[in-house]
Amino acid sequence: MRFSTAVIFSGLVAAVSAHFQLQYPAPRGPFVEDQEPNFCDGYINAVDNRTMFPLSNGVIELRSEHPSWTIGVIISTAQNPTSQDNFTDPKNSSAFQQVMQYNKQSGSGYFCLPVDIQASGISGVKDGSNVTIEIIFDGGDGQLYQCADLTLSSNASVPSTATSNCTNATNVPIGTSTNSPTSSSTAPASSNSSGASPHIVPMGLSGLLALFGLVLAGL
Ligand SMILES: *[C@@H]1O[C@H](CO)[C@@H](O)[C@H](O)[C@H]1NC(C)=O
Ligand SMILES: *[C@@H]1O[C@H](CO)[C@@H](O)[C@H](O)[C@H]1NC(C)=O
Ligand SMILES: *[C@@H]1O[C@H](CO)[C@@H](O)[C@H](O)[C@H]1NC(C)=O
Ligand SMILES: *[C@@H]1O[C@H](CO)[C@@H](O)[C@H](O)[C@H]1NC(C)=O
Ligand SMILES: *[C@@H]1O[C@H](CO)[C@@H](O)[C@H](O)[C@H]1NC(C)=O
Ligand SMILES: *[C@@H]1O[C@H](CO)[C@@H](O)[C@H](O)[C@H]1NC(C)=O
Ligand SMILES: *[C@@H]1O[C@H](CO)[C@@H](O)[C@H](O)[C@H]1NC(C)=O
Ligand SMILES: *[C@@H]1O[C@H](CO)[C@@H](O)[C@H](O)[C@H]1NC(C)=O
Repeated sequence: MRFSTAVIFSGLVAAVSAHFQLQYPAPRGPFVEDQEPNFCDGYINAVDNRTMFPLSNGVIELRSEHPSWTIGVIISTAQNPTSQDNFTDPKNSSAFQQVMQYNKQSGSGYFCLPVDIQASGISGVKDGSNVTIEIIFDGGDGQLYQCADLTLSSNASVPSTATSNCTNATNVPIGTSTNSPTSSSTAPASSNSSGASPHIVPMGLSGLLALFGLVLAGL
């Protein structure tokens, strides 16, 4: 059953045309379009040239090729996370450790979204920690993944060059971070498989809107 599902989805992967490119922090390696439906865009291993990334008040910048999309960011505190399993909550293997809850965005182009890693309260996240973040992006036709390996620093700041494309009104920060890992999680995709992830939509629209309302109310 699972196998046949994978076969069906692998047919869909070829049809995925909307992608995203993580601009900041730098991904593990150059963008590989065909690998984006796989764990970390096909890059299995962490790299040594990690980005010094703010423990609090960080920003991710990406380029969306899709006009309507859902994004979430998960984190691993392993030195070399090699699969989605390494991004799950040690106390609950079916939940990801999220530093940005799934949220819905519109527009293609460059987007900057705030991410406060310290506020996630995830165990092992502190000044000097080596971590990896994985961006989960869904433009409506399947989930896409890119990873960045980081060293967290309480005195690092986001370089202005990293966000220089996010100055226009449509590209202002409208993302969200949260204090606790969510219970909404997608089934982990196997690393570097040719199949797409089994879940297409990470969260119902009403859940997203409710989440967004809460976040906006909290601002
Ligand atoms: C690390 O080096 C690789 C290969 O040169 C490069 O593609 C990547 O952008 C670098 N990452 C960082 C964070 O500088
Ligand atoms: C992914 O797996 C394929 C074969 O299964 C291999 O050729 C490729 O090098 C792997 N990619 C990475 C980034 O390890
Ligand atoms: C963080 O990773 C770098 C290389 O990726 C390594 O040299 C360093 O020892 C690591 N630091 C810690 C605290 O594990
Ligand atoms: C990462 O996940 C794999 C299973 O996919 C597991 O074997 C390994 O121990 C995990 N690594 C860490 C550091 O948790
Ligand atoms: C910033 O913090 C790092 C450790 O996270 C430390 O190595 C570095 O010296 C600090 N830099 C400044 C300018 O304080
Ligand atoms: C900004 O946009 C230009 C193209 O308009 C692109 O070449 C450049 O890589 C982008 N920079 C960042 C940090 O996204
Ligand atoms: C910002 O808007 C200006 C004026 O419309 C436009 O020329 C520029 O390309 C836009 N920059 C980005 C990164 O979208
Ligand atoms: C574990 O996570 C799953 C998926 O997010 C959730 O449905 C379940 O309630 C969680 N279990 C516990 C014990 O928190």
